[in-house]
Amino acid sequence: MGVPKHLNKIIVAGGNTLEGKITVSGAKNAVLPIIAASLLTPEPVRIDDVPELLDVDVMCQVIGAFGASIRREGSQLYISTPEITSVEAPHDLVSKMRASIVTMGPLLARTGRVRISHPGGCAIGSRPINWHLKGLEALGAEVHMDHGYLDVKASALKGARIYLDFPSVGATENIMMAAAVAEGTTLIENAAQEPEIIDLANFINQMGGKIRGAGTSVIRIEGVKEFSGVNHTVIPDRIEAGSFLLMAAATGGDVFVQNVIANHLQPLLAKMEESGVHFREEDDGIRVLSDGIYQAVDVKTQVHPGFPTDLQAPFLAFLTRGKGTGVVTETVFENRFMHVDELKRMGADIKIEGRSAIVQGVPRLTGAPVTATDLRAGAALILAGLTAEGETEISGVHHIDRGYEFIVEKLSRIGAEIRRKSD
Ligand code: UD1
Repeated sequence: MGVPKHLNKIIVAGGNTLEGKITVSGAKNAVLPIIAASLLTPEPVRIDDVPELLDVDVMCQVIGAFGASIRREGSQLYISTPEITSVEAPHDLVSKMRASIVTMGPLLARTGRVRISHPGGCAIGSRPINWHLKGLEALGAEVHMDHGYLDVKASALKGARIYLDFPSVGATENIMMAAAVAEGTTLIENAAQEPEIIDLANFINQMGGKIRGAGTSVIRIEGVKEFSGVNHTVIPDRIEAGSFLLMAAATGGDVFVQNVIANHLQPLLAKMEESGVHFREEDDGIRVLSDGIYQAVDVKTQVHPGFPTDLQAPFLAFLTRGKGTGVVTETVFENRFMHVDELKRMGADIKIEGRSAIVQGVPRLTGAPVTATDLRAGAALILAGLTAEGETEISGVHHIDRGYEFIVEKLSRIGAEIRRKSD
């Protein structure tokens, strides 16, 4: 499964207009916590629309280390965890993917114990997990750190009122999963409101959980003792969809992006419309019509329903060829402009001032060898490559394969000249 490791570069020849239909996969950021939440039940779980991504493989390996057996059939995942055989998430897996920490909540709920390697930092900032731990402690867990591992124990989880200092997505998910079994009522205030939180709550509720208010800033959870098996279809990936819309618009394309919940993409659609790009909402998708000429606009990342930080890099790449100057401000992560230097190597005119990037549109970019430093930076470089003159050779493509399913095949089918290559 997946992309052969030796094909470690993506080559994009710029200049083609994208045309046709492209289908969005299930959401990576929804399916990862959902796979973790399957640990809540000893009964079989089936998840549909699961993308083939490296991050999904890692999450499966993590729950496999706890005793889950997992089988994939096409885009369906069958998970069964009749017994938890280990409560330890090994360092080599957690270090591959930070999102492994969302297994803390469900494992604690199921067994009262979890030992997980501290995830540390990553390419886009130090990314602490203090709010995850604060929430679990409020529910009665005790947290100890030894030899780089977090040892979390709870003899009994009890509902509590938890105010998050910031609406962290991962902390909201972890707390929601632990609180799903905690005795009594838990209130998460200032909770994250992302669509992926709603999908996770729906999944848990279909298993017998009692979660209300997901998608608002206050989530109320009544603990229950037992969870049953479930079949669930994952929501479409709004970040993948947004990346395709931006690629289509930047190349002057006419593309129908299928399997989209338009409401999830409002902040992006509003900004693209402000820049002069036209859309048509159709059944099950969005058609973007562009002549490749658009105005620069300013954008500031915020928690949902604000502009998503995961579309900041692709949007910044889109602005490199806009008319005029646009300011992109990142408020969610501390160090998420690694793609800027790479885009500058392609001829983009960008200056960083604190948490903002000032992007002055240029008439053309030129292909260059560049490196993807994280997955959204990778999508930004593909977008830039699609519009640039000549060939762009992208290294670090394992980052892209963490989050974009069959990206080369999908883009080729709508007219992009893109292929994989080995060194
Ligand atoms: C999730 C998404 C990621 C997205 C992010 C923000 C997944 C698998 N990943 O990441 O793609 O970019 O939401 O939409 O769903 N923070 C703390 N302490 C904590 C937790 C977070 O300081 O305990 C900080 C982080 O360092 C960051 C900010 O809060 O600066 C937002 O993080 P958070 O919402 O938790 O993001 P993730 O859940 O890690």
